[in-house]
Amino acid sequence: MLVYKTKVDLVDRINNLMQPDFSLGFVPTMGALHQGHLSLVKSALANNNFVVVSVFVNPTQFNSSSDLNKYPRSLAKDIKALETVSKDSILIYAPEVEDLYGSKIKSESFNFMGIESLMEGNSRPGHFNGVGTIVKRLLQIVNPNKAYFGEKDFQQLLIIKKMVEQEGLEVKIVGCPIEREPNGLAMSSRNGRLSPKEFHESAMIYEILQTVKQKFSSEDIASTCDWVLRRFNNNPLFELDYFQISDIESLMPIKEKIPNKKYRAFIAAYIGDVRLIDNIDLN
Ligand code: PAF
Repeated sequence: MLVYKTKVDLVDRINNLMQPDFSLGFVPTMGALHQGHLSLVKSALANNNFVVVSVFVNPTQFNSSSDLNKYPRSLAKDIKALETVSKDSILIYAPEVEDLYGSKIKSESFNFMGIESLMEGNSRPGHFNGVGTIVKRLLQIVNPNKAYFGEKDFQQLLIIKKMVEQEGLEVKIVGCPIEREPNGLAMSSRNGRLSPKEFHESAMIYEILQTVKQKFSSEDIASTCDWVLRRFNNNPLFELDYFQISDIESLMPIKEKIPNKKYRAFIAAYIGDVRLIDNIDLN
C-alpha cells in the first residue's frame, strides 16, 4: 500500500484516480489504529470508491507536550491493519508536521457558539481550536465527498459539523457508532496504556452509562448525577473529571428533561494517568 508523505503527492494521486461519478471518503486519524478506526474505514469503503486515511498526531490539539509525546505512534502497524481492510482502495496520508503547518504550528481561533468550552473544551483549553484547524486543513487538501468520525468523540463530531457549516465546506460529515471492547470499554488508542487491572476495571464506565440510561426514564437528573459521583468515589482507581447529561444540540448540562428533546450522558475519567471518555444516547 502506498503511503503519501506530502499533500502535493496525495492530491496528485487523488486527481489521477478519481472519475467524474466517483465518490471519495475520508477518515482522519492520529494513528495507533484499532477496530474502532477500522470500522470507520469499512463504513467509508462501503459508500465510496476510494478512501483516504490520514495518520497524523496533531500537535495543536494537545494541552501538554508530555501528553503529545506519550501519544502512541505505530505507522508500520497501522499500514498492516489497513491492508487487512483493503489493499487497493485506501490511500494513506502520513505527513510530517511541516507539510500541514509549515513553520507556524498554531491554531486558528473558532467560535462554535460556546460548545467548544464545555466538557472536553473546559478540561482541555484550546483543544477544539486545534481540532478545527487540522480537520479544516485536511478537508481542504483531500476534498472528500464524505468524512467519517466516531461518536465516542461526540463533542468533536458536533464541532466539526459546525466548522464545516461555518466554513462552507462541501463535505458530508458522517457520525459512526462507538466500537467497544468485549468488556464494554469504548475503543481508544489510549487503551493500550492501561495495565491489565486498569483495563478490567475500566468496564465500570460503560456499566455506569448503561445504568444511567435505565435511570433516565424513571429518576430525576440530580439523583442520577449523585449516584454516578458515588460510584466513582467508591472506586479509588478512578478520578472523575466530569459526568453530565446534556441536550445533544447545545451540549449544555440539563437539570430537567423537556419532552421531545434528545439527550446524551457523558463521562470523562482518569484511571492512573490515562484519560478515558465515553457517552451514551439516552432517548
Ligand atoms: O479524533 C481524532 O483522532 C482527532 O481529533 C482527529 C479528528 C484525527 C484530528 O486530529
